[in-house]
Amino acid sequence: MDALRIQGGARLSGTLPIDGSKNAALPAMAAAILSQGTVQLHDIPTLSDIGNMTKLLRELGCEVTGQGRNCTIRTTDPTANHARYEIVRTMRASICVLGPLLAARGEARVSMPGGCAIGDRPVDLHLRGLEALGATIELDGGDIIARADRLKGTTIFLGGPFGSTVLGTANVMSAATLAEGRTIIESAACEPEITGLADMLNAMGAKISGAGTPRIEIDGVESLGEVEYTIIPDRIIAGTLAMAVAMTNGDATLTNFPYDNLLAVLDRLDVAGVHVCRTDLAQDPRRCTVQVTSERRLNPVLYTTQPYPGFPTDLQAQMMSLLCLAQGNSIVTERIYPDRFLHVSELTRMGATLFRSGPTVVVQGGEQLVGAPVMAGDLRGSAALVMAGLVARGETIVQRIYHLDRGYVRLEEQLNKLGAGIERFELGVSDPIGV
Ligand code: EPU
Repeated sequence: MDALRIQGGARLSGTLPIDGSKNAALPAMAAAILSQGTVQLHDIPTLSDIGNMTKLLRELGCEVTGQGRNCTIRTTDPTANHARYEIVRTMRASICVLGPLLAARGEARVSMPGGCAIGDRPVDLHLRGLEALGATIELDGGDIIARADRLKGTTIFLGGPFGSTVLGTANVMSAATLAEGRTIIESAACEPEITGLADMLNAMGAKISGAGTPRIEIDGVESLGEVEYTIIPDRIIAGTLAMAVAMTNGDATLTNFPYDNLLAVLDRLDVAGVHVCRTDLAQDPRRCTVQVTSERRLNPVLYTTQPYPGFPTDLQAQMMSLLCLAQGNSIVTERIYPDRFLHVSELTRMGATLFRSGPTVVVQGGEQLVGAPVMAGDLRGSAALVMAGLVARGETIVQRIYHLDRGYVRLEEQLNKLGAGIERFELGVSDPIGV
């Protein structure tokens, strides 16, 4: 099992491009099932989750070929429709094949995803949305079985107790592209990954308007065709790298930076004393070049995670690491996944002073972090631990980094390009700090 050994103390500087977004790429790959032609995708990040989606699509009768960050998907056997537990349990996002399979093939059998390290993750809203479109849904042997001859457009409310649902919106929107008549999704997720998916589907011939707002309208069409589409840059990686640079009091340039998709984060960073400045105002604000610098002394801030355009839950842990360095008390409230705090006890092992009460954590900043062996428990929490390691005194070892590898393409290599001292090594089971 791989681990990272981090020598703290380097100031990060240099230039890095932001990778394509995993969370945009996964539903885009699944949406290829809807196409009667060839789907070419560019800027696909080379991550384990993408490998899992490739495997799943192949099992679902798609030919998936590609080199590096490009991939081509074409359906060769439209009779396959079973997303088996063996794959779904490795990646919850497998659920995003449900809508495309149902709409394109009339039947989908998708293993019901379980909870995960960040908490319960129900899919009731996905199922309610597809039922509203006329699908019959049953559960059998742990599988969701959805069937419909042809879906029928209708008005669907997709809000839940924690706001809308991103992959639920992707599923219902994708399925509705081939439904008869007009579908209106109210309380749709507004995340940029949904806007990106709508752009791709429209380029395939769909008629979607309003994506990026809480009301999406879809006029169903008879079929969808080929497309060539470039995945949007990853706003979570962009935020992670900007915070990492700031924590080390560095000075770095990030390109392909989705500035406009990160405004809530940039606002909190600004208050904290981190400056993310566009260096060329003529560039597209969703793919621009920024320079990241920070004040020597960071300020505490309050933030609450919310659906887009609010502060994203996927950057909650990384921002908490940064605020361990601020002079004063910060308050973090998690409103999407109230238990997404696996990093709290590990940061505490590194000398952070954190007090948790339910979905809120008070970060008493200003302490020098100290290197320690720590255990990654989920994807974004792992990134937070790596960032803490960058500024800790001495050596930090982050174990179980398979979580990290699900969402960052060799994060240590990217940070090393900016001058960090991180080494990946294989941790044997007999190693004294092994598990
Ligand atoms: N929810 C329901 N019912 C549903 C679906 C969701 O109650 O049917 C609740 C969830 O429990 C949660 C909230 O609604 O409290 C939002 O969940 P959502 O469905 O939006 O999450 P998701 O679509 O499964 C995506 C990202 C997550 C990210 C969330 C929220 C992908 C592959 N995953 O998940 O990303 O945290 O949106 O923004 O796009 C990550 O990348 O680290 C990650 C976990």
